[in-house]
Amino acid sequence: MCGIIGYAGHRPAVPLIVEGLRRLEYRGYDSAGVATVQNKEIDLVRAEGKLAALDEKLSHINVTNSTFGVGHTRWATHGVPVEKNAHPHLDHDKNIAMIHNGIIENYQEIKAELVTKGYEFRSDTDSEVLVNLIAEGRKHNDTMLKAVSWALNQVEGAYAIALVAVDEPGTVYAARVSSPMVMGVGVGENFVASDIPAFLPYTRKVVFIEDGELVKITSSSWEVFRAENLAPVEKEVQTINWDVQAAQKGGHKHFMIKEIFEQPKVISDCLAGRININSSTDIGEVVLPEISAMEPPERLHIIACGTSYHAGLWGKYLIEQWAKIPVDVEIASEFRYRDPLLSKGSLALAISQSGETADTLAGIKLAKQKGLPILGLCNVVGSSVARESDYIMYTQAGPEISVASTKAMCSQLTALLLLALYWGKRKGVLDEETYSRAVQDLRNLPSILDAELPAMRARAKELSREYSEANSFFYLGRGQYFPLALEGALKLKEISYIHAEGYAAGEMKHGPIALIDPKFPTFAMALKDELFPKVKSNLVEVQARGGEIIALTNPGVELDVEHRWILPEVWGPLNAFMALPALQLFAYETADYLGKDVDQPRNLAKSVTVE
Ligand code: M6R
Repeated sequence: MCGIIGYAGHRPAVPLIVEGLRRLEYRGYDSAGVATVQNKEIDLVRAEGKLAALDEKLSHINVTNSTFGVGHTRWATHGVPVEKNAHPHLDHDKNIAMIHNGIIENYQEIKAELVTKGYEFRSDTDSEVLVNLIAEGRKHNDTMLKAVSWALNQVEGAYAIALVAVDEPGTVYAARVSSPMVMGVGVGENFVASDIPAFLPYTRKVVFIEDGELVKITSSSWEVFRAENLAPVEKEVQTINWDVQAAQKGGHKHFMIKEIFEQPKVISDCLAGRININSSTDIGEVVLPEISAMEPPERLHIIACGTSYHAGLWGKYLIEQWAKIPVDVEIASEFRYRDPLLSKGSLALAISQSGETADTLAGIKLAKQKGLPILGLCNVVGSSVARESDYIMYTQAGPEISVASTKAMCSQLTALLLLALYWGKRKGVLDEETYSRAVQDLRNLPSILDAELPAMRARAKELSREYSEANSFFYLGRGQYFPLALEGALKLKEISYIHAEGYAAGEMKHGPIALIDPKFPTFAMALKDELFPKVKSNLVEVQARGGEIIALTNPGVELDVEHRWILPEVWGPLNAFMALPALQLFAYETADYLGKDVDQPRNLAKSVTVE
């Protein structure tokens, strides 16, 4: 969590850093701050609340013209979100300003030691302990580089830090362990940040910083060292193909609605290069060069959190059905603390949009310890999941900025479907008819979805007006729609704060149905498939208790409920790609109608990089 940026260049640092923070604000928004150095003094401005509060504060003061500095947008871990706990933090003598994302686990011992040496603390954070430890290190070392290394050798935990110091004008130091950090290499300017969008308007040349590395940037140079011994590290400069527009709202009210509408393109982008068209037959073939060297696994363990976990649950249906591979889908925060029985021949599949989710990374570590190879399914190029995986398949969804994940799930479903087809074919267990139908219809799916999205939005808007007063919702589905029911409920609760439960429709009568009354509506996934008759009976049971129903369904389906929301029917599992945006749009329109902060819901952050 938390967004950090450090800049050393030729432009005034404060406005550039604040702009960068705006593009990182999805990572945390409890408080924000910026620090620069001028005339041997640190200029520090911090504000409680969203970035707008910092902006407002900055508009009333004369900020420095300094061309280097650091900035932070916070998601609180240690210390309540008030100004004194906002970053940057200064050391006791106000010579160093540091920003920190992560948790210093042994901060209490270090703090006790520093207190005996006369250090006083102004905040409740673990971060302030680290900046003071670096200041202490400066007393024992002749350069700031050595002082930072000295201090980092003593801390345990996760961190991405960046700092400026009065005695080294023009230089920013940064380091990471288990928290994301990427360096941007510009012309006459260099950057460090938690994520690429922070500096995307200035450069697309990036260097991914690894755990245990320490970076020194100035306007004209950058160097990377091993933090423990300052051995120089050779790094590769990569050019990323994200464009600035992709990281902006592009005329939409919120990132979330923009990202929902991007889903047709996301499907096409995820398919690009992965379906080879045979010109004589016009039947495509799934090619996954990323995993061609790997035999299909005997068993698959999917590890993920939140929306990515729901995608994994959906993938289980197809991978078991088409590739005949048994699949266990694990919530990463549970998996990491179990002693799972992982047999030889199994593969761990880690799904993560950000590639920085702490629990998923810990799950990867455990699976590795137990001897499993790791396949990462991830959106962010060069992220920790990508780097920790033996094989990596990128979902190609482009930057997802809204905290509520939408298009990332669509891309994950596409990739999982491709995996099921690919393994099914390689094992020779998937019939040709299903294979070619799936490939062909997948290719046509983006245009069908694109044409339908405006009508879906209109329907979502209508229904959201009628149900925005509800205190609770059930989301019900069976088969491939059960994971979507979970996802629909998650979307509604995280952005509209309306309580919602996703359930397997058949489980209702084992307890939850007791909650149904005329004020407790149900959002049902009643699409045409072999399980529809079962869903229909479950809905009759809900109606018998006075519950109102919105049903996502298809043309020609007979269903007597309060609201039928008819989606065009596509082939088999592809119907999930039509239902998913409907669920997202209903949550979006409800939250927007209720005036909620759609892109930055309370208490949440985009990447959960702490436990
Ligand atoms: O980046 P990841 O896919 O690993 O993130 C996992 C979850 O934190 C994420 O999906 C979260 O549940 C979203 N807020 C859901 O909208």
